[in-house]
Amino acid sequence: MGKLFEKFPDPLARLIVVFLALVAAGAFVFFVLIPKPVKDLKVQWDNAIRQESARPVKYAGFHACAECHDKLYETKKKGYHRDLSCETCHGAAKAHTEDPDTVKPVIPAERAFCPQCHAYNPSRPRGFPQINPVAHNPLKPCASCHNPHDPKPPTTPKECAACHGEIARTKAVSHHVQLECTTCHVTPQRHKVSPRAVKPTKPQDREFCGKCHGKDASAKLSANAPKIDLAEHGEKYVCWQCHYPHSPEVEQ
Ligand code: HEC
Ligand code: HEC
Ligand code: HEC
Ligand code: HEC
Ligand code: HEC
Ligand code: HEC
Ligand code: HEC
Ligand code: HEC
Repeated sequence: MGKLFEKFPDPLARLIVVFLALVAAGAFVFFVLIPKPVKDLKVQWDNAIRQESARPVKYAGFHACAECHDKLYETKKKGYHRDLSCETCHGAAKAHTEDPDTVKPVIPAERAFCPQCHAYNPSRPRGFPQINPVAHNPLKPCASCHNPHDPKPPTTPKECAACHGEIARTKAVSHHVQLECTTCHVTPQRHKVSPRAVKPTKPQDREFCGKCHGKDASAKLSANAPKIDLAEHGEKYVCWQCHYPHSPEVEQ
């Protein structure tokens, strides 16, 4: 190298020599030393495809299950789990489809399984059904209450008492036992699903109670309702200032 440099005293020429030497070395490495498959994309793709297709197929796909489990297949197709493949829960089952009597797929019976998707996690999409697995009906397997092939969302309670137990129990032993809750509260169906967003009405004025208790009341249930003079009784205060409407007792 030293001798070579003596032939080129000019620093710029020396730089060019070094550069050309590097290019020659690089070309040698690229074209001679690196094997062809590492450089050629097409060869790489061919190799990858050959490697992947040589691997044994483990999953059958959920259409394969329909052949023998047609009922379950149809059930699941209409339910909330319609987008889950059978093998998401039962594991790879191709071997089972080929020899169903000896090879059995796994059955995810343990409680830890379903919370993989349903345990509360703030990063899940809003509205996705989630539970706290520690507090939600502990100890029993999920499938003892939920059909894994056709899970149902929680049903809305029909009775007001499901959520207003104390009021219902109070009213049940009061003089207003015969009155439906809805006599005094106009309740939209949606109140039972979103009770805080959609609220029933509440009586607003003395005339409301007066429909049954006024001297000349005409409401159907008013027949055996004790009568008062609406103009005078309790002055101008609303009735529930003095009478609890769910248990209106009058001390004698
Ligand atoms: C060629 C018919 C056939 C196909 C296809 C098939 N199965 Fe089965 N499967 C059976 C038979 C037969 C049984 C045993 C039935 C029994 O024990 O009552 C069974 C049982 C099962 C069981 C219960 C295993 C146990 O331990 O009780 C599961 C889970 C199951 N199959 C899942 C699947 C899934 C998932 C697929 C699709 C990937 C599938 N099967 C495709 C025939 C089939
Ligand atoms: C969400 C998970 C999940 C999915 C999806 C699912 N299964 Fe299951 N499967 C279960 C669980 C859990 C059990 C055990 C039920 C039990 O213990 O009562 C079960 C039980 C079974 C059984 C045996 C008992 C029975 O109910 O007959 C068969 C067969 C079966 N599944 C087939 C299928 C097929 C076929 C599909 C797709 C069409 C499928 N499963 C999709 C979770 C799942
Ligand atoms: C003893 C019966 C029982 C068991 C066991 C049980 N659940 Fe539930 N689950 C219910 C009832 C009843 C509801 C509806 C009322 C409620 O929301 O509490 C429900 C509601 C749900 C909901 C819907 C929540 C929503 O807000 O939409 C999901 C999801 C759920 N359960 C998943 C599970 C999972 C996962 C397991 C197992 C770890 C499990 N459940 C075990 C009875 C049960
Ligand atoms: C791979 C994820 C996954 C697994 C595992 C899974 N689920 Fe689901 N589950 C879903 C999806 C997705 C829905 C539909 C949600 C929707 O429609 O908004 C659903 C819906 C439900 C619902 C209906 C709740 C509602 O309020 O709409 C219940 C109940 C439920 N699953 C219970 C179970 C049980 C029990 C298991 C275990 C056997 C289980 N899930 C396993 C993904 C899963
Ligand atoms: C799913 C549970 C649930 C059911 C079922 C239910 N409620 Fe409610 N209700 C609530 C909750 C929770 C509140 C409290 C809302 C708040 O304080 O923000 C409430 C509030 C009310 C209120 C007070 C509204 C206000 O403005 O203060 C009335 C009146 C009422 N409910 C009547 C009824 C009647 C009548 C029924 C039956 C037809 C009924 N509810 C069924 C959960 C329920
Ligand atoms: C005779 C009419 C009447 C009947 C029947 C009645 N309510 Fe009320 N309710 C009222 C009045 C009036 C109020 C308002 C009380 C107030 O503002 O202090 C009220 C208030 C409420 C409230 C608000 C919270 C509270 O305790 O003040 C709830 C919740 C409620 N009622 C639920 C019910 C339920 C559930 C039933 C049936 C079990 C029922 N009501 C039956 C008249 C009635
Ligand atoms: C300032 C308190 C107060 C107010 C407001 C009030 N009451 Fe009374 N109410 C009483 C008292 C105290 C009694 C029992 C003594 C009586 O008979 O005067 C009573 C008795 C009653 C009785 C029983 C009468 C009987 O003969 O057994 C009825 C029915 C009644 N009230 C309905 C109403 C109605 C409807 C309203 C609203 C229009 C109302 N009250 C407003 C204090 C009140
Ligand atoms: C749909 C008719 C109806 C409406 C509306 C109604 N009540 Fe009554 N109420 C009755 C009947 C019927 C009785 C008597 C039941 C019995 O003792 O057999 C009664 C009894 C009473 C009593 C007497 C209790 C006792 O100890 O004798 C009071 C006080 C009372 N209601 C207050 C109210 C108040 C306050 C309201 C308004 C929030 C109201 N009622 C709305 C039908 C009604």
